Amino acid sequence: MLEVKVVNLKRVKVDTLVVPVCEDHEIHTDNTLKSLIGAAKAFSEFKGKKGDVITLFEPSETRITRALFFGLGKAETLTGESFRAFAGKAVKSCINAGLPAMTLATPSAAELTINAETLFGTLMEGACLGNHIFDRYKMEKEKTPVKTVVLMATAAQKKAYSGLAKSVAAVCGASVMAREWVTTPSNDKRPEAFAELIQKAARTAGLKTRIMDDRWLEKQQFGAMLAVAQGSSAKPRLVTMEYTPKDAVKTVVLVGKGVTFDSGGINLKPSGSIETMKMDMSGAAAVAGTMMAVARLKPGIKVVGVMPLVENMPSGTAIRPGDIIRSYTGKTIEIGNTDAEGRLILIDAMAWAVKQYKPDTLIDLATLTGACVVALGEKIAGVFSKDPELAAGIVASGEKTHERCWRLPLPEDYKELLKNDFADLANVSSSRWGGAITAALFLSEFVGDTRWAHIDIAGPAWAKKASDYCGAGGTGFGVRLLCDWIGKL
Ligand code: BES
Ligand code: MN
Ligand code: ZN
Repeated sequence: MLEVKVVNLKRVKVDTLVVPVCEDHEIHTDNTLKSLIGAAKAFSEFKGKKGDVITLFEPSETRITRALFFGLGKAETLTGESFRAFAGKAVKSCINAGLPAMTLATPSAAELTINAETLFGTLMEGACLGNHIFDRYKMEKEKTPVKTVVLMATAAQKKAYSGLAKSVAAVCGASVMAREWVTTPSNDKRPEAFAELIQKAARTAGLKTRIMDDRWLEKQQFGAMLAVAQGSSAKPRLVTMEYTPKDAVKTVVLVGKGVTFDSGGINLKPSGSIETMKMDMSGAAAVAGTMMAVARLKPGIKVVGVMPLVENMPSGTAIRPGDIIRSYTGKTIEIGNTDAEGRLILIDAMAWAVKQYKPDTLIDLATLTGACVVALGEKIAGVFSKDPELAAGIVASGEKTHERCWRLPLPEDYKELLKNDFADLANVSSSRWGGAITAALFLSEFVGDTRWAHIDIAGPAWAKKASDYCGAGGTGFGVRLLCDWIGKL
């Protein structure tokens, strides 16, 4: 879908041209473009202010059918995210108008405070991500995605950034897959079905995938994960995806929470909290998506995805508050609340992954706590790690990709709050406060000395409303973040 091309606007026939415009500064150098912008700004309703839009049809001395101008505001305020948002909006307006192809007038990085690679990369990301429509469950498909997006470039830029188009397409395609899995309703992605969806995707990418069933989990004594699963008529699954390059010396393991529906269990969630709980497998979706991208990006390290998949349901066979269970490591846990299920499936998967793969770094992603959403809101994830460098690396990747992360502490003395009279640990804190922290501390008890980070994505994994380059529903949060982070290793 993405192409980087040299386009002569005087000679070439262009169906739809989209042009970003600033109010205070000329960010384009092409003379034809500059005079087109002049023509647009001659209309009083278009000054290039943020949010201004205007369309000119068949502008003179060109072979352009329509030119869409988007105001971006003041040039000095523009970041990579401004260009993602612009490209996303541009693609969406083409989709809404039923236009199959779009030519994007790339501004000159020399006129901006960001570099050319960031400029091209973010424009490509916004265009790719904004082109996703989830209409699988609609009888009538109202909209069609754009087929081609051409980024205008100089010959040198074409040479420099055609490869970038391929990697952006790989990463954003994977991000879109994660979105689709998250938005898919729970009746179509119970653990066995979700495992097969992942495996089917992985086959096309040539990734080694294994699906472990409930009998295997019993044999291996995944006691905490099985305890969560026991209330559902759907059997749990553990999925692994492995990318192993020839001379890899380092191993990264990614673990993703895969609760295909979180009803809360016997501690049933009330109306208002339960409706979106099909998204409680967003961690697993992000990990599976990242693995899909990794298979195409081919980094020089071994990367493994581990996804524990369960459905958390109340029933006559469900775990009860007060039950004591034995986890994979042997540590016992008293269930204080059956709705604190994510940490139970994660600890077995993480402890097993540590033993199985002996990773240099382990990162888990999970829609783990409402408390993290209270702390950081719906757009920023919480990062927890005892390793400052690892935390800083993740936060930096969050800045770059705009999948924003903020480090929260892991205070040793708060572990007190997880102490229990009858078992080694309780699955919930004895305090009402700091729930994101105590959940992370609970996880920390099961990774040994492994260099580890936990990312709580309960807020940003899901969007109630569409935004510039994302529709309503699953956001795919974590895929671009992890791909960027892996790319730095
Ligand atoms: N899946 C939820 C967390 C969640 C909340 C995700 C909101 C997305 C949006 C998790 O399993 C949960 O229920 N956590 C409880 C923990 C509590 C019982 C200690 C919570 O946050 O209320
Ligand atoms: Mn829960
Ligand atoms: Zn949950």
